Amino acid sequence: MKPVVLVTRKLPDAVEDRLRQDYDPILNPEDALYSSEEIIERAKGADAILPCHTEQFTAGVIARLPESVRAIANFSVGYDHVDTEAAKARGLIVTNTPEVLSDATAELTMMLMLGAARRASEGERLVRTREWKDWSPSFMVGTQVTGKRLGILGFGRVGRVVAKRARGFDMEIHYNDLQRMPPELEEGAIYHETPEDLMHHCDFLTLHCVASPETTKLLNADLIALLPDGAIVVNASRGVVIDDDALIAALKSGKLTAAGLDVYNGEPNINPEYRQLSNVFLMPHIGSATKETRDAMGFRALDNLDAIFAGREPRDRVA
Ligand code: DGY
Repeated sequence: MKPVVLVTRKLPDAVEDRLRQDYDPILNPEDALYSSEEIIERAKGADAILPCHTEQFTAGVIARLPESVRAIANFSVGYDHVDTEAAKARGLIVTNTPEVLSDATAELTMMLMLGAARRASEGERLVRTREWKDWSPSFMVGTQVTGKRLGILGFGRVGRVVAKRARGFDMEIHYNDLQRMPPELEEGAIYHETPEDLMHHCDFLTLHCVASPETTKLLNADLIALLPDGAIVVNASRGVVIDDDALIAALKSGKLTAAGLDVYNGEPNINPEYRQLSNVFLMPHIGSATKETRDAMGFRALDNLDAIFAGREPRDRVA
């Protein structure tokens, strides 16, 4: 008998094809967003669940999952939607999909940085609405990216790929993380011991930290005040790392020139004030949304499931 796997969202065709070969999948061809109650109900008889970050596995949900469920193999690198302590306590194995989405997320980060600096939202709107009337030396003047200082808060896999790409724009890389990286990972990036120290060196600041109680609202009014006037902030990690009220106030006052955001508190119901600001470049959480990366995420989740059901330690175990 093949293990039964509950898949919570529509996965790429190639991933579902491989899933069918080795497992008995419960699929979601409509890509419906299930409530926790529906997940618990649909998991009846399942040996494992393959969810996305859109499903919440709180301690309460984990406690009510059917006894048959042995593993949660996430289709995501972030796993802040899973209460890993509760999972451990129940003996559930939890995995994620690191590495495979670093390039796609770094690409999107560069797009946010460029889009915010060069006023992409405003420009696109002008062309689409036929409000574009003229060319002039003072029309749509933005901020140059080339040669500027880039601060990276969280120098993990994604942060380091962003640094590589940004070097192509001759940017000077500064970073903060819990620990200083070895020279081969730093590749000349300048370490700052605290987020506060880092802020002074950021013409651009990009956030690549994991969501945790420690990083919740990390970018708050105090930290923003330490940024150089006119800095640009980019976030493609998780919305919780930003205090929205503080960021919005800084974008309104001119303390910050612009922001590029792909992730939000409460997404998709984001703080409505962002929609009113012309100096924010807004994307709908698509950091990993390339065909190559979504296939790779699915295959990585399946590699983890294969290991679990073969009695081996999965490569990407997080609980
Ligand atoms: C991730 O993998 O964490 C992305 O945010 C998509 O879920």
